[in-house]
Amino acid sequence: MRRHIDPSELARDDRFNRVSTEMRFSDQRQVEQNNRIDGSAIDVHDRARRLMHGIFVGEIQALEGAGRTCFDFPVAGENGAGADPMAVPFALKLDMARQCWDEARHCEISVKLGDHMGMDIGEFFESTTLFEAACHADPVFRLAGVNRALEGLAIDVFNSMKEFGAAMTDPVLEFCEDWMLADEVTHVKMGSTWLREVTKTDKERQARALEFQKVVDGLFNFRGQRGEDADSSIRLARKFREMAGFTSSEVDVIAEMSRQSRAEVLTPV
Ligand SMILES: [Fe+2]
Ligand SMILES: [Fe+2]
Repeated sequence: MRRHIDPSELARDDRFNRVSTEMRFSDQRQVEQNNRIDGSAIDVHDRARRLMHGIFVGEIQALEGAGRTCFDFPVAGENGAGADPMAVPFALKLDMARQCWDEARHCEISVKLGDHMGMDIGEFFESTTLFEAACHADPVFRLAGVNRALEGLAIDVFNSMKEFGAAMTDPVLEFCEDWMLADEVTHVKMGSTWLREVTKTDKERQARALEFQKVVDGLFNFRGQRGEDADSSIRLARKFREMAGFTSSEVDVIAEMSRQSRAEVLTPV
């Protein structure tokens, strides 16, 4: 089997419509407005289903990304790995294999939750941002960009949706999100632990990976809608992030990034 595949090579049936990160962010407003495959205008109800669709395809790519990380790199200390700087500890691969199983379960939960919300598979575009971050040639950058940035975002989103489900007295939404949230805290913690372990003697590599994490985080500020303010539509789940190995100053940085985005959006031009 070939190592390091391209996002355009992901196996999908003809229900799926793929869009790259470059295309998605090249003219974000246009893609947002046309986010429905049939071109019809989206309303408030569509937005919740579009978010659910984004979560569903994110779960597929999280499964694919963790699987690639199991396979793409040699095991440190094994014959053939030699002095390969990209070799990883076997226990890291075991954690990624465990993550695959969790993500496969999340795919199934997401399909059922999508049914519950009236979402059709393929109704909206599939952005390949998560898998693109999971294609990085350095496994440490994958941990930073996927496990810490994007799955950190999943913690915030799932926690917000769980609270929304509770407020709407929708136990299906509330408990599905709660179960997935528990797994995501574990996945982010794996990212935090392995990123620090693998780079403990190479602080420069660690700093570059954390910079990559910041870039990915910056792509998903939702124009300041993710934050700690009471009216943030996606609340920053500080408690769960800290359980997952974020320091409080790292959470402060994300909160500040969001405040700045919000201020820019509100500033008249
Ligand atoms: Fe997941
Ligand atoms: Fe995950």
